[in-house]
Amino acid sequence: MNINLELATERTYAILDKLTECGFDVREPYAANLPDGMYISDGACRVVIIDEKHPDFVIKFGWRDSDEKYCKREAKLYEDAEKKGLERFFAWTHYICEFQGRAIYAMEYLDCDEEDISDKSSDYCWKLYCENNSVDLDEDDWDIRDEFWDSYNDASDQTYGVVRYLSSMISAKDAFALDQFIWDNDINDLHDANFGYRNKEIVICDYAGYGW
Ligand SMILES: Nc1ncnc2c1ncn2[C@@H]1O[C@H](COP(=O)(O)OP(=O)(O)OP(=O)(O)O)[C@@H](O)[C@H]1O
Ligand SMILES: [Mg+2]
Repeated sequence: MNINLELATERTYAILDKLTECGFDVREPYAANLPDGMYISDGACRVVIIDEKHPDFVIKFGWRDSDEKYCKREAKLYEDAEKKGLERFFAWTHYICEFQGRAIYAMEYLDCDEEDISDKSSDYCWKLYCENNSVDLDEDDWDIRDEFWDSYNDASDQTYGVVRYLSSMISAKDAFALDQFIWDNDINDLHDANFGYRNKEIVICDYAGYGW
């Protein structure tokens, strides 16, 4: 991926300057009043800060000191994906600097519309499920619906509906290689909120896995 590290570094420092001005503390990210147009998006392990005025890159860091490993792993996996020619399925990310004792990473901005991704991929998987199980598309039996949802995201065997949906839009060769990469690297947390759009393509923004 042709990403400009210099620009990402410049953007990161600009965001960090604004954060410093408003008294931001990495350990209490919600305590400060962020400037207009900046907002926080978070997950169980990471804090992501988006500056709408410069939305090409976001900054990302661990919630707790012990969560720093997740960003580090992501940056390493991005390089590994590049070696396999699979990087377009992952948001570009790179370590930039230390800030308040915390490692800060820049990441390519994605449009993370979880509802949209979730609706589209679950619709796709529901159609597959109906075809495979001779179920009517309008079926509203809750037991059947429950069984479908269990199969949609089965964390125990690392089957994620959105990965199936993404795979349906790319070549079989790429889908196979991506699946292999996900398994080989134990990227075990690919729920719908961990994807976003780059233009119209679905891309993984959280590929560090969880709980290791
Ligand atoms: N590159 C990005 N561009 C825009 N928004 C992002 C980006 N990366 C992450 N986000 C948003 O921030 C949220 C938290 O980021 P991320 O999923 O990486 O954190 P996490 O703590 O590892 O999540 P989880 O709870 O899945 O373990 C995401 O669900 C997404 O909404
Ligand atoms: Mg996540």
